[in-house]
Amino acid sequence: MVTDRLRIALQKKGRLADDSFALLKSCGLRFAIRGGGLLARVKNMPIDLLLVRDDDIPNFVANDAADIGIVGENVLVEEQLVAKTKLDADIAMRLGFSRCKLSLAAPDIGMVKSAKDLDGTKIATTYPGVTAKYLSVRGIDAKLVEMKGAVELAPSIGIAQSICDLVSSGATLEANGLTAFETILESEAVLIRSARDLSPAKADLLAKLMNRIDGVIKSSETKYIMLNAPKSQVAAITALLPGSDAPTIIPLAGSDDLVALQAVCTENIFWETLEDLKALGARAILVLPIEKMMS
Ligand code: PRP
Ligand code: ZN
Repeated sequence: MVTDRLRIALQKKGRLADDSFALLKSCGLRFAIRGGGLLARVKNMPIDLLLVRDDDIPNFVANDAADIGIVGENVLVEEQLVAKTKLDADIAMRLGFSRCKLSLAAPDIGMVKSAKDLDGTKIATTYPGVTAKYLSVRGIDAKLVEMKGAVELAPSIGIAQSICDLVSSGATLEANGLTAFETILESEAVLIRSARDLSPAKADLLAKLMNRIDGVIKSSETKYIMLNAPKSQVAAITALLPGSDAPTIIPLAGSDDLVALQAVCTENIFWETLEDLKALGARAILVLPIEKMMS
């Protein structure tokens, strides 16, 4: 590629797109998405965002139209399976958002209740690659009805007895009187790249971006906790703090037996933990979000 701007392929709209834009903004990239545009320039870094259909992203990365991409793992796996030769696009980093499942589902009142009932039936899906692989591995003899969307309508209009579709909250299945009976794939957003070498400038930028993404993901799970506690309980209290290193202990003015304790917790702190801390004598407990982290 002639340009030395790092090119990231992203889904142009949808839930995963919104979360991807938010992630990049948290990493300090400044850009504006205008309706219909194919390319968005990042103003403060040499990065361009290529806004495309999600099923094109693995191909764009493999064919050097983009250096990296952010896409659902489900789309990457599907595109790999339907490609004629293996695509040069692999997961460089898991991003932890847009978690969903690709599941088989059928009408609550119908002949298909489990995978055992699929022989001789039709399955509607927008994921023919993943679904066909599942069927062949299990030796199930079912026909695929390939659709481009609105798969959940297939059973009610009589073109298939079951569907294989993405399930996130489950609301779509429920609204259509369908129940999931088997999960074929669990998915989350992933950052993908090819095995090609990048120019040194782009490689540096990518390393920096991945470092920031890592920091954003970690800081979203990490909390700072502050509390006052009796000196005698410091060891017991420290043991309760999820994923924390040695806490900072500070003497409290005018008190011989109370200290202030502060610690970074790399896991979520639940209400139950706060109640247990209080039972050990901790008081004035504060849990604060962490905005940025770098180690
Ligand atoms: C996906 C999927 C379901 C829905 C599941 O569709 O195909 O229809 O989301 O989400 P839920 O379990 O939270 O209801 P999407 O919105 O991505 O649109 P599409 O089917 O048109 O691609
Ligand atoms: Zn859908």
